[in-house]
Amino acid sequence: IPIERYRNFCIVAHIDHGKSTLSDRLLEYTGTIKPGDGNKQVLDKLDVERERGITVKAQTCTMLYKHPKTGLDYMLHLVDTPGHVDFRAEVTRSYASCEGALLLVDASQGVQAQTVANFYLAFARGLGMVPVINKIDLPTSDVERVVEQLRTGFELPVGENGEGCCLVSAKTGKGIGDVLPAVVEKIPPPTGDPKAPLKMLLVDSWYDNFRGVVLLVRVFEGTIKPGDNLISFATGNKYTVGEVGIQYPNSTPQTMLRAGQVGYVFFNPGMKRIQDAKIGDTFTNVGSEKVVEPYPGFEEPKPMVFVAAFPTNQDDYNKLADSMAHLTLNDRSVTLMKDHSEALGAGWRLGFLGSLHCSVFQDRLRQEHGSEIIITEPAVPSKIVWKNGKETIITNPADFPEPEDPKFRHEGTVYEPIVNATLTLPEEYLGRVIELCEAARGTQVSIEFFHGTQVILKYKLPTASLVDDLFGKLKGATKGYATLDYEDAGWREAQLVKLNLLVNKHPVDAITRVVHTSQVERLGRQWVTKFKEHVDRQMFEVIIQAAVGRKIVARETLKPFRKDVLAKLHASDITRRKKLLERQKEGRKRLRTVGNVTIDQSSFQKFLSK
Ligand code: GTP
Repeated sequence: IPIERYRNFCIVAHIDHGKSTLSDRLLEYTGTIKPGDGNKQVLDKLDVERERGITVKAQTCTMLYKHPKTGLDYMLHLVDTPGHVDFRAEVTRSYASCEGALLLVDASQGVQAQTVANFYLAFARGLGMVPVINKIDLPTSDVERVVEQLRTGFELPVGENGEGCCLVSAKTGKGIGDVLPAVVEKIPPPTGDPKAPLKMLLVDSWYDNFRGVVLLVRVFEGTIKPGDNLISFATGNKYTVGEVGIQYPNSTPQTMLRAGQVGYVFFNPGMKRIQDAKIGDTFTNVGSEKVVEPYPGFEEPKPMVFVAAFPTNQDDYNKLADSMAHLTLNDRSVTLMKDHSEALGAGWRLGFLGSLHCSVFQDRLRQEHGSEIIITEPAVPSKIVWKNGKETIITNPADFPEPEDPKFRHEGTVYEPIVNATLTLPEEYLGRVIELCEAARGTQVSIEFFHGTQVILKYKLPTASLVDDLFGKLKGATKGYATLDYEDAGWREAQLVKLNLLVNKHPVDAITRVVHTSQVERLGRQWVTKFKEHVDRQMFEVIIQAAVGRKIVARETLKPFRKDVLAKLHASDITRRKKLLERQKEGRKRLRTVGNVTIDQSSFQKFLSK
């Protein structure tokens, strides 16, 4: 099949609008998978993913399609895009590997935040657009409204009666036959010279126990075949190609991949670490580094949310280390550093792309370790400009300077990360949503009314507000109708301070947080009350305080208590006495000392869990 008859496309959609279902229908329609098998196959793969923690990219797939009118064969590559807002950079890379996109909108929901945000991303890349309205079988579907949104909101060439739009039900299969002819007609073929030196973009990757890291790539120029020697522009590492092929629908080896194609590559010997497969990286033949321009705009993923994790019992450190290694095997975007807390011992500091990414990873850790692990509250980094002009990005709140620090100037020298957020909501909730955004210290950028009582709001919001579950609050205030999408928007000056929890004047490093000055009083009060509930009484009085530098913002006192377990026992009851002493010894392993106060690990755990 000549390059003029390749088409590379992806599906731009809001979550749940039917991307997976539509992909399955298209694969069935082209005979790539058997009807009825489709869903099952995808589900089976997901089970594997869940069980072994490997991501199987079920939806990136090649299809062979015979055009009904011309009888010509086409090779169609459907590239999957991560549906997860934290992976914005990866979505951009997926778009870079395509010439077009299906703009998929749920007929009953209409255009939503991710539709808007992804539409503009795809539009900026000049992708050919095929509007597809899905779920027309639903009684609540309102095709007219969506057509109007596409016409006026996105200025797409759609007729008043939906001409130029595919109207489908991915569920029943209605209208599916119109989609691929539209792909062939509206999406341009790729261009590229198969005789030029290789220029290949890394779009996605996953770990395979037998083959090492498998790369999903788009070849822009040249060809790639087994035995070729390649070099990565991002890492400078060199590799020998072991196998190339297409996903049809499973890995199907080919003799070569040519300019214009999307396929998989793995090396021999295999790439060991998923972290070496940098999404957006360009590869070329060894020796062609000087003549090939790498694909522009490659950026290292930037962690924006941090937590620290510690084993409840330090004896479990190695067990936890194993599962950290296992979980990061397939998640190239987690950064992992060793950490040490005075209160919680040895552990790790983990960085994530965003708060969703962070909570998904936390869930997996908790699934494996349950109460055996203590995870600190998620925090965003902050940036300090010191008196001498140097900058530091602080990811561990304990490292944030105290107000009394002589190297630290106050005014205008502390910055927090912010995001550009796109929100969609029904007009009736506008007042409530604006209130929430303002309370989250957001600044409004624009407000746009979309045909059919839908509003698109753009805000600059502190990344910290997303970690504080702004999305949950929005959903609550709008009966679940609000949708949110965001992308990183750099740093903004902010009035941030470090809030410490002190136990008998001694700071508990694991509980320290960097907060906005407006939150200090409320959070300080909350901390001391909650901490008091969870800490056992001691032989002496314990003072619990929340403080910013030397300034105490809240205080509680824990009265002393005599804890003499043996006194109650009869002196002759030796075995019971022994048992009790042993149990105490076991308990002591879990005890940590902060200043002169011993605190059971479980107290931290209870304090840190919501
Ligand atoms: P994510 O993978 O979570 O982003 O969702 P998605 O966009 O891939 O949506 P998915 O295909 O999983 O569909 C979401 C829900 O909508 C599922 O329950 C589907 O069964 C349902 N659905 C998809 N297409 C149709 C349709 O044409 N009609 C109806 N009634 N339901 C549909």
